[in-house]
Amino acid sequence: MIKIVPLPQEIKQISDRTFNYSESDIVKVQDDSIKSEGYKLLINEDGVTSVASTEKGHFYALVTFRQLVKSGALPHIEIIDEPRFSYRGYMLDTCRHFFTVDEIKKQIDAISHLKLNVFHWHLTEDQGWRIQIDKYPLLTEVGSKRKQTRGDNTPVEGFYTKEEIKDVVAYAKSKHIDVMPEIDIPGHFSAAIAAYPLLSCDGKGCEVKEAFGIFEDVCCAGKETSYQFLFDVLDEVFELFPFEYIHLGGDEALRIKWINCPDCQKVIKDNGLKNEDELQAHFMSRIAAHCEKAGKKVINWNDGMTGENTRKSIVVHYWTQTKKNKAAAVRHVAGGSQGLISPFFNYYLDYPYGMTPLSKTYNYDYQKDGFIEENIIGLESPLWTEYVKTIDRAEYMTYPRLIAVAEKAWNTGSTYKNFIKRINPILSILKKLDINYAPLKDCNPRGVQRLKSLYAFAKNYKHPSSKESINRTMQNKRMLEEKYEKKD
Ligand code: ACM
Ligand code: ZN
Repeated sequence: MIKIVPLPQEIKQISDRTFNYSESDIVKVQDDSIKSEGYKLLINEDGVTSVASTEKGHFYALVTFRQLVKSGALPHIEIIDEPRFSYRGYMLDTCRHFFTVDEIKKQIDAISHLKLNVFHWHLTEDQGWRIQIDKYPLLTEVGSKRKQTRGDNTPVEGFYTKEEIKDVVAYAKSKHIDVMPEIDIPGHFSAAIAAYPLLSCDGKGCEVKEAFGIFEDVCCAGKETSYQFLFDVLDEVFELFPFEYIHLGGDEALRIKWINCPDCQKVIKDNGLKNEDELQAHFMSRIAAHCEKAGKKVINWNDGMTGENTRKSIVVHYWTQTKKNKAAAVRHVAGGSQGLISPFFNYYLDYPYGMTPLSKTYNYDYQKDGFIEENIIGLESPLWTEYVKTIDRAEYMTYPRLIAVAEKAWNTGSTYKNFIKRINPILSILKKLDINYAPLKDCNPRGVQRLKSLYAFAKNYKHPSSKESINRTMQNKRMLEEKYEKKD
């Protein structure tokens, strides 16, 4: 059996002969008729030939070759391959817990072996602002530090300097991976408000958060100072990240302060907006227009895109599968806009294998959720790190589920059983990179029953709309999360 993950589009086994070549035997041939990420890999009595139109294509041929070498003797074979989607991503939250440049580079190296091509770098949060911005030094001086986490008396701090970011971006480029920054607005914004209180509706500051959840400290959508601040920050961000996409978050933005803010309410009135959902769309549209002037395409999480005035050019990032938010994402894509797929119940890597076993990740089919394939740019799996304190743990949660997502991003795939039969060579490559992946026995669904309450909570989750309901919701969430944290 030919053991390659992601499954190539076409494998022709020519005969039962086998060969013994190494990487240095690969001869590269240019063929401009092959798509930019496609390649052909030929192994026969004359040697090994990689045919591609770009260095990226040759790189993917090499990645495939390495898995064949790990499988044993090289087969007499012809592979013709190209990806299903142009965007194949992995997201790491470096805010809830901080990871070093070397730890990040290790993950970039690992995902390059899965033929993923986007590292989505979540850089700003309630619990920490992690990117140097020269014009607003307090973002890192104040916003990158929290005193403790949920009462543990242990400070967490850290940010990436511009030089470090350039280094990561260049390293990723050498592995044919683009880096997409996320600056999360208007919610998940407490660290910025802790640094610059005038960004909030009431001008009152807050702490860099020491707990997890969702908070009412959001960016004011009514004051011109908010817009100017974000334009300035984004201009500096664009200098560091050449990738065409920028992620502007948009998730879990509570409306409580907007409802009581005269500036926000004035924007609603002056622009004939119906409600705060439309205010968010209006706010995001202004920021997106600024990004587009700089040649960037904007991505937003789907719960921030429920307003009817949502900007068509924004790519919807489908994560929450609750009714209203899912409907908004499906509607946006059906209307001709683009979508990126990261379903909570299948692709969220922070949830334990007991709730999201490997087969559940592998078997997810976004078409069943009602999206049209032509408008989908790709698939991505995020790792949120509220309860992930070390890179070892991050790797355990990420792999092998990310391998399943990578397969589906490259190819429509096969059966789960067939996938498992092909997985060993890539696992041994990850092992060589010292990636602490979860053994397959840990990834089967036996734990699902135990985690029923967490699953039910997530399934029935609704955005709280008042202070009281936030407290109630967060209390429940914390209780359940603590329960499952202990289990893992
Ligand atoms: C998200 O999980 N808040 C996008
Ligand atoms: Zn406001």
